[in-house]
Amino acid sequence: MAGPPQLSPRPARPNILRYVILVLVALIVLVGLVVLIIWLTVRPKRLRYTVESAAVHNFDMSTTQLNASFNFGVKAYNPNRHVSVYYDHVTVTVGFGDQDLAFGVIKPFYQPHKDVTWLNMDLNAKNFLLHDSVSKDLALEKAAGEMDLDLWIKARIRYKVGVWKLGHRTLRIRCSPVIVYLSKDKEFKRTACFTEV
Ligand SMILES: *[C@@H]1O[C@H](CO)[C@@H](O)[C@H](O)[C@H]1NC(C)=O
Repeated sequence: MAGPPQLSPRPARPNILRYVILVLVALIVLVGLVVLIIWLTVRPKRLRYTVESAAVHNFDMSTTQLNASFNFGVKAYNPNRHVSVYYDHVTVTVGFGDQDLAFGVIKPFYQPHKDVTWLNMDLNAKNFLLHDSVSKDLALEKAAGEMDLDLWIKARIRYKVGVWKLGHRTLRIRCSPVIVYLSKDKEFKRTACFTEV
């Protein structure tokens, strides 16, 4: 007669729910703040890259085509005391003028904190079709015994801070110009690279 009795105890519930949600939100904000503070204190320093050696072998070109093997020795330094790095996917490109001449892939690796890793990169151009202007400039530099190459490295990395592994980000490394001498009597000069995460 007085209506369904189950209606009366209900109004209490939304309050509890509201508290639970409030506490959850407060917790999330708190955890976020803690993570932010830790992140700001251990924030990763720039990873440092230098090209320590560079060589071109089996160089052979016609007016339109190129055969060549490029080799680069690159030193990767992680200056961080608390941050290590997973390199999950690394691609390497050697460019000349406005054309990319050869590509390569480096095996995934892990770099602990304060670590130096030497990377050896072999890239091959085979029957590679050259742009007109690139072919002319390359022939001129070859004749002069000195080539200005660009080395581009692109890596999908993850930082590890303590036990935390953070999400993927893209590291771009540009080494330019890497000057390769074709005669043996000139020594290669180390080239510092520009990095951007
Ligand atoms: C490049 O090498 C291939 C064989 O691997 C050869 O057929 C071609 O003529 C070479 N090209 C040049 C420009 O030397």
